[in-house]
Amino acid sequence: MQEYDRLFIGGEWVLPRSGKRFESVDPSLDKVWAIVPEGDADDIDAAVAAARDALAGPWRHTITPTRRGALMLKLAGLIRRDAERLAELESRDNGKVVRDTLNEIQRSADWLTYFAGAADKIEGKQIPYRPDALAYTRREPVGVVGAILPWNSPMSLYGWKLGPALAAGCAIVLKPAEQTPVTALELGKLIEEAGFPAGVVNIVTGFGTVAGAALAAHPGVDKISFTGEHSTAQKIMAAAAGNLKRCTFECGGKAPHIIFADADLEKAAIVATHGAFRSTGQTCSLGSRLFVQRPAYEAFVATMAERARRIRVGMPLDRTSHIGPHTSREQQEKTLSYIDIGKGEGARLVAGGGRPADLPNGYFVEPTVFADVDNRSRLAQEEVFGPVLAMIPFDTEDEVLAMANDTKYGLVAGVWTSDIARAHRMASRIEAGLVSVNTYRPIHWMLPYGGFKLSGIGRENGLEAIDQFLETKTVVIELNEEMPADPFAS
Ligand code: NAI
Ligand code: MG
Repeated sequence: MQEYDRLFIGGEWVLPRSGKRFESVDPSLDKVWAIVPEGDADDIDAAVAAARDALAGPWRHTITPTRRGALMLKLAGLIRRDAERLAELESRDNGKVVRDTLNEIQRSADWLTYFAGAADKIEGKQIPYRPDALAYTRREPVGVVGAILPWNSPMSLYGWKLGPALAAGCAIVLKPAEQTPVTALELGKLIEEAGFPAGVVNIVTGFGTVAGAALAAHPGVDKISFTGEHSTAQKIMAAAAGNLKRCTFECGGKAPHIIFADADLEKAAIVATHGAFRSTGQTCSLGSRLFVQRPAYEAFVATMAERARRIRVGMPLDRTSHIGPHTSREQQEKTLSYIDIGKGEGARLVAGGGRPADLPNGYFVEPTVFADVDNRSRLAQEEVFGPVLAMIPFDTEDEVLAMANDTKYGLVAGVWTSDIARAHRMASRIEAGLVSVNTYRPIHWMLPYGGFKLSGIGRENGLEAIDQFLETKTVVIELNEEMPADPFAS
């Protein structure tokens, strides 16, 4: 049993005020494997106070931006040093296969490295407002950031959330999801070892409706950076209204992945399979609606069914597994219920459709492919967040564009074609924050990422991400020493 009893607040390891702890389950075994502290509103209060103190001290006022970047590089190095161990812990906690968690934690260090390099390149402007005045802008940290993380990719998001916030000079209270709290506490140890000033990063494990809600409503928090379900984002936005917190939200998706008959179909099939089933389907960028142009459709359905059957579903720590279990029983049940919904809506089940017979204990579901799905059906419109692919035929470019955009989401889209003009037409007309052509889901620290519509607000990644953690202050200095004209003189 992995046991933790303390939260990381103000540079110290402290017991939660309530003294309570909660359990985390190993989803591959359906068994409790870790116990962690249960932070509540009192602990959030303490963490926010520590973050405010950090902002009032050296972090903001004496540490140079270059030194800030150096601390981030140090943290990146410690993460790389401990990558194997962290990856195994996350695979136990989350269920994701270890080759994915290892990749994620290493990339998290890359994210920090990228943003570390930006820390001392955040510049304001001098504005030629008038010849006898000096006008300039200062780019100042937004303040205390509440980072609320989901359970599906915790380790990637350490880099996504901490990178731009630390580069901008903010202080952070990070609350991981209650389903996957373990590696966040391990991250706290590395933050301590890296030598960040007390309170710059605080880690509070706890439940969304208690600790998360307290963070969203806290008057001492200036900004919320959240990843998770849009309905949670709506609650956070309402709670954040009290002090008009800045909000960046990255919510779900139901990405259209569109294959024209003139594409390289062999490449498209490899990429579409990974795009639909990676991480057991528990990712917001999943290519879960696969549109295939009619001449290629039937053969592509057969290929996808065959490829789905070949995916090795297995234990997370087994390095030969391709995908693991769902992270929670709720998610497994949700996926199985959508398989029933698909069948009930008359879609044609061509692969999977149930739990794998050889893995009876954990929250496993077979990679599942439905063909002939109606784009207006629930299976095509709602985010399953599981390994369930909906395949939909189309004839023309206009028809597929209309269907692709007929969704409440707009995060990611993929297009496969050998017609360059069509590629650009599609890229300009699809309503999504990321469109890729002849590749899928190029998520990278250098590329802005975020959603249209219910998929979110703001962008993460890329230099643009740092803007979301800054306020612009305009400063004007009068240079003219003459007496000003007095409008009230006569
Ligand atoms: P969620 O949105 O409830 O959880 C995400 C985070 O928000 C967690 O840290 C949670 O503790 C926190 N939270 C929950 N309620 C809160 C509140 N009232 N105030 C502040 N923080 C709160 O996601 P959940 O319920 O775990 O998953 C439900 C569905 O959401 C999934 O089936 C999936 O469809 C979607 N989802 C999408 C994600 C994405 O990356 N787009 C990530 C996780 C879930
Ligand atoms: Mg929830």
